[in-house]
Amino acid sequence: MSNSINVPLLDLKAQYATLRDEIQTAITEVIESQYFIMGPTVQALETDIAQYCNVKHAIGCASGSDALLLALMALEVQAGDEVICPSFTFFATGGSIARLGVKPVYVDIDPVTYNMDPELVREAAAKCTRLKAIMPVHLFGQACDMDAYLALGKQFNVPIVEDAAQAIGTLDDTGAPTGSRGTIGCFSFFPSKNLGGFGDGGIVTTNDDKLAERLSILRLHGGKPKYYHSIIGVNSRLDALQAAVLQVKLRYLDTWHEGRRSNAKTYDKLFADAGAKTTAHPLLEGGLPLRYPTCPDGPARHIYNQYVIRVPEDQRDALRDFMKDRNIGTEIYYPVPLHQQQCFEYLGYSTGDLPQSESAANQTIALPIYPELTDEQLHHVANTVIEFVKQHASVA
Ligand SMILES: Cc1ncc(COP(=O)(O)O)c(C=O)c1O
Repeated sequence: MSNSINVPLLDLKAQYATLRDEIQTAITEVIESQYFIMGPTVQALETDIAQYCNVKHAIGCASGSDALLLALMALEVQAGDEVICPSFTFFATGGSIARLGVKPVYVDIDPVTYNMDPELVREAAAKCTRLKAIMPVHLFGQACDMDAYLALGKQFNVPIVEDAAQAIGTLDDTGAPTGSRGTIGCFSFFPSKNLGGFGDGGIVTTNDDKLAERLSILRLHGGKPKYYHSIIGVNSRLDALQAAVLQVKLRYLDTWHEGRRSNAKTYDKLFADAGAKTTAHPLLEGGLPLRYPTCPDGPARHIYNQYVIRVPEDQRDALRDFMKDRNIGTEIYYPVPLHQQQCFEYLGYSTGDLPQSESAANQTIALPIYPELTDEQLHHVANTVIEFVKQHASVA
């Protein structure tokens, strides 16, 4: 009977159904104005996001990937320089660095949070000869230890570029929004993000007036005034149509975050009741071989762009198939860490160099977590995972 319940990994139609009229009105206004590039709608969104992230400046751009690229360009990171970032992340983190001819220095993660381990960053930074920036990623919507990163920035005299693509509205241990404490924060509006557009989009945040000016010129081919180029930039603007959609959605973002957090709590409880533990406990420590995310406490806020669980690596893909057979969507974020990607072979990493990233890539699987999930769907997902894990634990 429960097989008749369908649970996609993400259901954007469910969200759109609640906003159709507002969004269509906002889009129509842009169409009527015929002001598609830059202009008042983009500016209004930039003001709203700056306020939401508690920063002085927010500068729209074409994608989260471009946000990272523009940040490094604004900081004048040059070919041959080094930038530290995690290996267990979406490709764009390392890709933006490498695209500029800069060397990505990949650092392993803390297995509890899946975020880059600041102590390992310190060790890696000490070995660098041309370190020009550190780029932590707030993975899955959980903040990095920003106090540690700001201290590292000071110690090594380099800027901190926050890859907050998955983390708009995330709060760190001090209660500060991601993208507000580093030198530059980079966000994505890819449709699957908690604040997703109707296509690609991104934004860069900073409290530094000079960097803000540079970023806003760089996204316009580096021209200011128009057709006068003191620097070489790129064409990377946020479309007014996207800005209009995002402005409407921003009004609901905190409610959606709370919906995801509440869903995460439901999963946490169902998994804990079944004998699973949080990622604070190694998978092989005993008990049910299932780990659910460690939720930060205090003023921190995890926004659960992804809810990621962990199972033994010889069972992960079978679990995915088991879920698929029961109409439940899942995803692997990410199956190959960046230091093991073919395109980065030239960097000379070997298997085993970043063991936590490698085992996370083999053991983790993301479950549906979007705010419109019903209680029935949540129970179906959790019970299906538990059923699989119990079956396999008994034969292990
Ligand atoms: C961690 C991370 N960085 C960067 C990006 C790039 O964002 P975009 O897809 O908007 O280019 C993403 C998007 O998935 C991401 O998850």
